[in-house]
Formats: sequence, structure tokens, C-alpha cells
Amino acid sequence: MLYGRWPACGDPVRTEADVTAPALSVGVLTADLTRLGAELEHLRGRAAWAHVDVMDGAFCPQLTVGPAFVAAVAATGIAVDAHLMVEEPRRMLADFAAAGAAVITVHAEATRHLHRTMTEMTALAGPERSFLRGVAINPGTPVCAVEPVLGLADLVLVLAVSPGWSGQAPAPGTGQRVRDVRDLARRAGADVLVGVDGGVTIANAAQIASWGIDVIVSGSAIFDRADPAGNLDLMTRELLLSPVEVSDGKR
Ligand code: DX5
Ligand code: ZN
Repeated sequence: MLYGRWPACGDPVRTEADVTAPALSVGVLTADLTRLGAELEHLRGRAAWAHVDVMDGAFCPQLTVGPAFVAAVAATGIAVDAHLMVEEPRRMLADFAAAGAAVITVHAEATRHLHRTMTEMTALAGPERSFLRGVAINPGTPVCAVEPVLGLADLVLVLAVSPGWSGQAPAPGTGQRVRDVRDLARRAGADVLVGVDGGVTIANAAQIASWGIDVIVSGSAIFDRADPAGNLDLMTRELLLSPVEVSDGKR
């Protein structure tokens, strides 16, 4: 079990106590970066990870942060989910591992050698899995792009938005893509978490969680420069209360 799994199919009808809400990974780039330390304290013990969007200005238009920022956040003891939206991420994997990222996610579209990239990530994470190995797909990328590397990944991150900005609306059809990834993983016998990133708000969190996902990334809905703590309470509540779609007893 990597992180918070449902009981296996055929177990008694679940009750709220049985259920683990999707893990919450909070995007920190919309936080008040002039007082990042204080902002991060809102996450301690309340979110699984601080989600750091690493953008190189090539894979997507924005230029954000790198390993030094990840190391600074990790040094606070808050686990970091590093989302690499960079061209040819192989050249940076060791730096993000050394920075102490707990999750490193690369994009299937960012390299010609996805299998080699995930193989190198697996070697870097080592048998004790010092970090979770993630592979992400943009809304326009066929889900089957991750199929060849499901055995080399711990997480498949389905982007509900085209990468580059926070605060976008989720693309229609993302729920079906989540189900398609699940089906692929089931057929491959791959033990992967499935996550959604982009456009998750307090208003739509329960619906998105009902797609049966393990990880939810949310940024501007939490760090809105107004009430991150209150937003976290509301988001957590929505995720816990989300009814999960169950088809033939399996997720
Ligand atoms: C988009 C990023 C997302 C985004 C999430 O390129 O990967 O993580 O920042 O922000 P919200 O939750 O505001 O869409
Ligand atoms: Zn992200």
C-alpha cells in the first residue's frame, strides 16, 4: 500500500471510517512567497504534500523554481511533491532526488525516452523507494502513452489543465481519462496511484474525488491569499464526504 487505499473489492460496504480520502497535495506557487515558511505551516499535518510546479519556460511558457526551492521546502519537514514540467527531465532527476523530493513526476510528453527516464528514476529511488515515481499526461495526450511504463511508476498524474498556470477550469472528459488509466493499470496488474492536477476547487473537489482517485492536487483554491487554513478545512471536508463511483465492486 503506497498511500491510503480502499478496501479490496467484495469487502463490506464501506463506511466513512473505512475510507481514506484522496491524498491532498497543495500547490504552493500561489502562496505568499514573501512569507513562504508561515504559509507552509498551514499544510503541516493537514496535507500529504506540498506540490511544487517546476516549469522551465520551454515545456510550458512559465519559468518557476528548481531543486533549491524544493530543498528549502523539504527542509521544513513538509514532504514535497515535485511536478517537473521541463523538457528532458532525465537531466534533473538526480538534483530533485538530492533535494529531498518525496514525489518526482515527469511528463510523458517531455522526453523521447520515457521508458529510459522511468528506468533511471527507478534506479535513483532504489529498492527502498526514497521517492514516489510519477508520470504525468497533459489533457491532449492519449492515456495509453503511460501504458508501457506502468510497471516503473508509483503514480499516474492526469492533468485536467494544460500546464502553465493555476486557476484554470478542468477540461471536460478528465473523469473518463482517470477511469481509463485505472483500467489500463488493472489490466497490466500495475499497483499505481492515480491523481488529478489542475482546476480542483472546493466546489468541484467532491465530484472529482468521486472518480475514485488517490491523489488530488489543488493550488489556488487553497492558497488564495485570503484564508488558506479555512480553505484547507473545507477542502478536506469535501474530500472526506465525496461519494465514490463504484463499478462492478472495483474502483
Ligand atoms: C498546472 C500545474 C498545477 C496548477 C494547480 O500547470 O501543474 O499544479 O498549478 O493549480 P490550480 O489548483 O489553481 O489549478
Ligand atoms: Zn502541478
